[in-house]
Amino acid sequence: MPFEVVPRPQGFGALVQADDPASLLEESARERLDDALSRFGVLIFPGLLADDAMHVALAGIFGEIQTFGTKKTFRSANFDEDGTLLRSDSDKARLLRLNWLWHADGVYRERDIRAVLLRAEAIETGGGDTEFADLVAAFDALPRDLQSRIETLSVEYSFEHMILTADVPPVSADERPHLPRARHALVQTLADGRRSLRLSPPYMERVIDWGRDESQALFRQLADFATRPEFLFRHRWAAGDLIAWDNRWTMHRVLPYADSGLRRDMRGTVVLA
Ligand code: OGA
Ligand code: MN
Repeated sequence: MPFEVVPRPQGFGALVQADDPASLLEESARERLDDALSRFGVLIFPGLLADDAMHVALAGIFGEIQTFGTKKTFRSANFDEDGTLLRSDSDKARLLRLNWLWHADGVYRERDIRAVLLRAEAIETGGGDTEFADLVAAFDALPRDLQSRIETLSVEYSFEHMILTADVPPVSADERPHLPRARHALVQTLADGRRSLRLSPPYMERVIDWGRDESQALFRQLADFATRPEFLFRHRWAAGDLIAWDNRWTMHRVLPYADSGLRRDMRGTVVLA
């Protein structure tokens, strides 16, 4: 049985419904899935129940997979390798809560990320939904004068800025100059010519040639605009779901969940542009 791509009734995103998950990995599926990600920005594969091998095979359809050491997947879980839940004041838990802030992944690197694929290996929390914002629709809806005021701006995206401003463990002054940073256009053009906002507020240090306060005021204004309800949708995870998102079209955040002893175990792959 082939799979179906069903667009969400409004806005961006589509569901990919496959009775037989193996159909997604057939040669004939590659172009359809690649095209679907470019057309819809977020693909939700409900109840796919992928293992790492399938997850990596699916990611490979969309491009070159980033490696972490020798691994092609990363893990983002609220418990340790031995199963102990993270204490909410621990360094790891503080870092994990960074995902509660609106962001796009890895914007502070030179090379763009095309897509991230995330799956819920196990999920017991009532909360922890993931929300996506449509940064193409948001750019399109901005007042014309604001569009033209920002379309030539470059921004310094910096991991250090996040470390210094978010509630995360500090790094030593010696390490700070080695943290990744990169300059990119604030308004980016996607492959099909549409434009989006390169928004990832925790990592946005300043507009090049602008002062810090003026820069931060603009970032806040754009983030407030782009997270209006009409640009958002929210996914309530069930174990086995997998979502692929276009990291230049969208930003995302996890909705806060209680540290009540319930487990949230996510696995991801990153596809480079
Ligand atoms: C991430 C992230 C979202 C989630 O790992 O970068 O934002 O739902 N995860 O866990
Ligand atoms: Mn993320």
